[in-house]
Amino acid sequence: MPTFVATVRDLSHKGLGVVDHPDGRTFFVRGTWPGDEAEFEASEDSRKYEEAKLVRMIMPSPSRVEIACSFRGFLPGQCGGCPWMMADYSSQLKLKRKRLIYALEKRQVLHEVTIPCVIPSPNVFGYRNRVQLKTDGVRMGYVSEGSTVFGPVDDCLIMNEKLRNLFHELKAKLPREDWRPTGGHQWSYLDLDDEATSKDVYLNKRRPFRQGNTEQNEVMRSWIRDKFSNIPFHYPVIDLFCGSGNFTQVLSGLGFTNILAVEVQGAALEALRQSGLPGVRILPLDMSKRGVWASIARFQPHAKALLLDPPREGLEKRRGLYKYLDNLEIIFYISCEIDTFSRDAADLIKHGWKLQEMTPIDLFPHTPHVEVLSVFTRL
Ligand SMILES: C[S@@+](CC[C@H](N)C(=O)[O-])C[C@H]1O[C@@H](n2cnc3c(N)ncnc32)[C@H](O)[C@@H]1O
Repeated sequence: MPTFVATVRDLSHKGLGVVDHPDGRTFFVRGTWPGDEAEFEASEDSRKYEEAKLVRMIMPSPSRVEIACSFRGFLPGQCGGCPWMMADYSSQLKLKRKRLIYALEKRQVLHEVTIPCVIPSPNVFGYRNRVQLKTDGVRMGYVSEGSTVFGPVDDCLIMNEKLRNLFHELKAKLPREDWRPTGGHQWSYLDLDDEATSKDVYLNKRRPFRQGNTEQNEVMRSWIRDKFSNIPFHYPVIDLFCGSGNFTQVLSGLGFTNILAVEVQGAALEALRQSGLPGVRILPLDMSKRGVWASIARFQPHAKALLLDPPREGLEKRRGLYKYLDNLEIIFYISCEIDTFSRDAADLIKHGWKLQEMTPIDLFPHTPHVEVLSVFTRL
């Protein structure tokens, strides 16, 4: 296949290196960083914006660092879980902010706010408190986003100490017949959590959602505490996509007396019930269904503040929000996906809301992920 030499000029929205072919085509290349000069391979009939392959590095980017993990890589059988591990942390943070700016620009939301620097994670390794691993009964590892290939690992540097100990304890018991995948699957999954012991780990059983970086979760909780301290405690509040009550606990702790906590997942709802937080009513509800806002408005008709922290899909059902919650004064939107956030922000703005501020925060070093904390008020 023909090759060409180029310097990576940018990262794509998905976090792949962008290179220009001398004939005018532009390609995306995994495992490269802006400033890398290298030889790339693309077939003659590859169209613009397809992926090209890195063949030989000529001059690495000055932002490159030695890759700390020997299991990470982009070839089949390698772990693709930390795609940005080859770059120093400050350049990762700059590029996370750039991704966010680009996503907002695309939806014409950028002019609304200034975007501060991304709040760095205090730990760049050993930060994760939970992971989902895959196992074939012989090995454990990851299947990275967008891939179907199992990448076994013997260690994982982003796990915190407790989680890593649990991983090694489970690995020492392999191979296990009872962990062999059944029904034609290549692997089964294991949800591991630093609050679990090996006896609490079950095959193909999801644990309730938990923010994956404990230290950064505390930063998010303080942000929420700070914002809600300015709101009268008698105001009716909705905590939408509340999970097991991570943020609900903050609101209840501040003294809010009328909190409606909305969630769909059974185990999360059970944990929230068990916590018996004062001032909280729980509404089990699937937000992907029709008519959800009418249900929410039935239970919290005079809601004045809405806190929402949706999964990656964002707030897909929004129409009812504008129709049923007339008294709403302020929305705090926590997002783990900048594209759906930008889409929802543009829609809120179209419906008379103003994006007052945004704070990006890094929960997952070595990945393109950016978490966003934002505030909307009525115009
Ligand atoms: C990003 S998590 C936030 C959880 C919580 N705020 C926290 O900090 O732990 C999103 C939550 O939305 C819930 N969820 C996902 N899809 C949902 C749906 N269709 N309806 C209601 N809740 C949903 C998930 O179970 C998860 O608990």
